[in-house]
Amino acid sequence: MMSAIARMATLYGSSRNIFLCRSASSHMPLALARAVSTESSSVATRLNSSGLLKSQALIGGKWVDAHDGSTIEVYNPATGEVITDVPCMGKKETNDAIASASNAFHSWSKVTAAERSKCLRKWFDLLMIHKEELGQLMTLEQGKPLKEAIGEVSYGAGFIEFFAEEAKRVYGDIIPATLPDRRLFVLKQPVGVVGAVTPWNFPLAMITRKVGPALACGCTVVIKPSELTPLTALAAAELSLQAGIPPGVVNVVMGSAPDIGEALLASPQVRKITFTGSTAVGKKLMAGSAATVKKVSLELGGNAPCIIFDDADLDVAVRGTLGTKFRNSGQTCVCANRVLVQEGIYDKFAEVFSNAVQNMKVGDGFGEGVVQGPLINEAAVQKVESLMQDAISKGAKILVGGKRHSLGMTFYQPTVLADVKSEMLLSREEIFGPVAPLLKFKTEEEAIQLANDTNAGLAAYIFTSNIQRSWRVTEALEYGIVGINEGVVSTEVAPFGGMKQSGLGREGSKYGMDEYLEMKYVCLGNMS
Ligand code: SIN
Repeated sequence: MMSAIARMATLYGSSRNIFLCRSASSHMPLALARAVSTESSSVATRLNSSGLLKSQALIGGKWVDAHDGSTIEVYNPATGEVITDVPCMGKKETNDAIASASNAFHSWSKVTAAERSKCLRKWFDLLMIHKEELGQLMTLEQGKPLKEAIGEVSYGAGFIEFFAEEAKRVYGDIIPATLPDRRLFVLKQPVGVVGAVTPWNFPLAMITRKVGPALACGCTVVIKPSELTPLTALAAAELSLQAGIPPGVVNVVMGSAPDIGEALLASPQVRKITFTGSTAVGKKLMAGSAATVKKVSLELGGNAPCIIFDDADLDVAVRGTLGTKFRNSGQTCVCANRVLVQEGIYDKFAEVFSNAVQNMKVGDGFGEGVVQGPLINEAAVQKVESLMQDAISKGAKILVGGKRHSLGMTFYQPTVLADVKSEMLLSREEIFGPVAPLLKFKTEEEAIQLANDTNAGLAAYIFTSNIQRSWRVTEALEYGIVGINEGVVSTEVAPFGGMKQSGLGREGSKYGMDEYLEMKYVCLGNMS
């Protein structure tokens, strides 16, 4: 029998999006049955007794297995242990979920906005009541430190609360008519069934940011969470049922991403695809949506510049850069990917920043004082290693870190690299790991040119004490989100999304509702 670590090495040796379906039909929470660490085991036991450790998919309000009984194991990235297994589903189950969502749409879209709002509010309350358990579940399957995971639960629940309120504000328009015997109106109506494909780095918030507005508008959803982190999604779905959201309104299927994706794209009943993840997959979903002309929202990769000007407050700049770079161990689309530092402050910034990075505690997310968890899997570590190798071979210098952590597994040392140049691969690709590359620049014009020299355009950060400069540079940056003297800017009340190849549409805020609404122009004639 293979050890948990050997199993993980086999699984993780392949690409991060490749999964292994097993034909065994067991869907028992395996953490209870196998040798696992005390922490994982006690968390799994607690979650299991609270009913939040789900190991089946949700279709039409019923918890179900894959039709052929095949399953997929879910791992703890900090230990390599199996937490449980979940169904490995494909086209058949996705079509079942679409049919359920489509049936439910007829009634859910007719429920009053006030009623939908109440259901969402109740869901928010339940998410908050269970925030500790959901945070533990997230740390178990995703690896982020427990405090950060609980923070994500509050952040994620915030979308449900915000959109519970917005549900009541889907206003139309009355347009002054061009002829005396006509009356012109605009109605806003839900788009229909939504396919929501979500990533592993924010196992809850990327779901609620889509499902909150979708449900508020009267849409129903088929969610495909990442096969690496399906458990938080399933627990949240269980709470949606407890909140009184009717069966079929929220469906969750997981397993073969290509098969599920194809079924969602092929179905004329699915009227909208919303996706957070890589630019490469986003382009495929966009192309695949063309056949049935679906509405599409895409939140794709970034390559965020974090610009530190000579006139920046050093403490604010260091704190802000740490916040944006090392959130979720560097695994966010809005993490600083390039730290551009002006020559007058470069040495001082490099010294103070490196000292702070050196002191970051790395470990299992359940460990006391840990601020940097593991990367999601071996492939993620290998990507960081290859970017590091390229940078060092082209002249970059390691100030701190620079290799796998002594904890082994998927732990990588928080790293600062100096003398980075824009032609190095890590300046051009998303690092998605705890590596901060410092690039030196001379002038404001050069900083703007470097910052915009990418196909991505999601988030950018500026640190300066000069208010005119902050505004001038903000206007020049080709990015959907700009943080000025602030490194962590995401909130449910503000629009999140990118320009250029970072995506289409906006999530969160009042603008996030538009993505799930159709506009209908109504002309009432012969009124005289
Ligand atoms: C992401 O990485 O895609 C989302 C990050 C956030 O919501 O701040």
